Amino acid sequence: MRKTLPRAALGPLFALATAAHAAVMKPPVAPPSVPFTKATVIAGAQFFADHCSACHAVSNLRYKRMGADLGLTKAMIKKSFMKPGGANYLKGMRPAMTQAQAKKWLGLPPPNLSHMARALGPRFLYTYLTSFYWDPKRPSGWNNHVFPNVAMPYILAPWGGIYTKNGKLLVPGRESPAVFDRHVADVVAFLRYASDPSVFERRAIGRYVIGAFVLLSILAYLLKKDYWRDVHDKEADSHSQKSATIKPARKG
Ligand code: HEC
Repeated sequence: MRKTLPRAALGPLFALATAAHAAVMKPPVAPPSVPFTKATVIAGAQFFADHCSACHAVSNLRYKRMGADLGLTKAMIKKSFMKPGGANYLKGMRPAMTQAQAKKWLGLPPPNLSHMARALGPRFLYTYLTSFYWDPKRPSGWNNHVFPNVAMPYILAPWGGIYTKNGKLLVPGRESPAVFDRHVADVVAFLRYASDPSVFERRAIGRYVIGAFVLLSILAYLLKKDYWRDVHDKEADSHSQKSATIKPARKG
């Protein structure tokens, strides 16, 4: 009785809280839906060059390094990724917009995304990019569930669709939710790679390093067995010699 009474009293409160939560339709913080591979990173880099590099720099990632890490030729990099005019193959990814223009048009300069995935984590980035909603009260017309009053306009709306704060679809996107979801997950994979470009090199070398350790362990074990065989043989010899000399003494 003591246990059931407070629950009964709190019931309507819980119901109210659940209803309020459902009305806001906050998306859960979810992990990106694609594996982290070179293929997804390349797809994400392409998506980034097409949709994000107008505003965002990834200045710590040089185009040349990207080619070497992802197995792409200079011609491929130039054609697909060096989008803003004047981009330099030996330098980092730079935005098309200058800082002054961005400040004038957007209110503040878009951040450099070189280390954003390390700072915020792939799960947050993915959720951020899928949490924009239409908000006519904002100067840009956009708001975000996980970044309230964000200055970034939702440039992906034509592909992903326009939603209200409550999750109601106002204008469907050109892409199906599944395809759009994959594109966003790809771009998150690219940002993860950009913040840690040696990841694929490390993974490739790691296999050999572990292989070398396994080989060394086997050799060390065989060597140990060989050394101890000598020690055991000597011990056995000395035992048999001792017993041979002691026996006659006892007898006598
Ligand atoms: C029209 C310019 C513009 C484009 C295009 C754009 N962004 Fe942004 N972005 C911004 C601005 C401005 C901010 C700063 C928002 C703030 O601090 O309020 C921002 C912030 C961000 C942040 C930081 C969020 C945080 O929590 O600090 C990330 C991540 C990001 N953008 C990713 C992207 C990706 C990925 C794309 C491409 C799909 C993209 N942006 C396209 C302008 C842009």
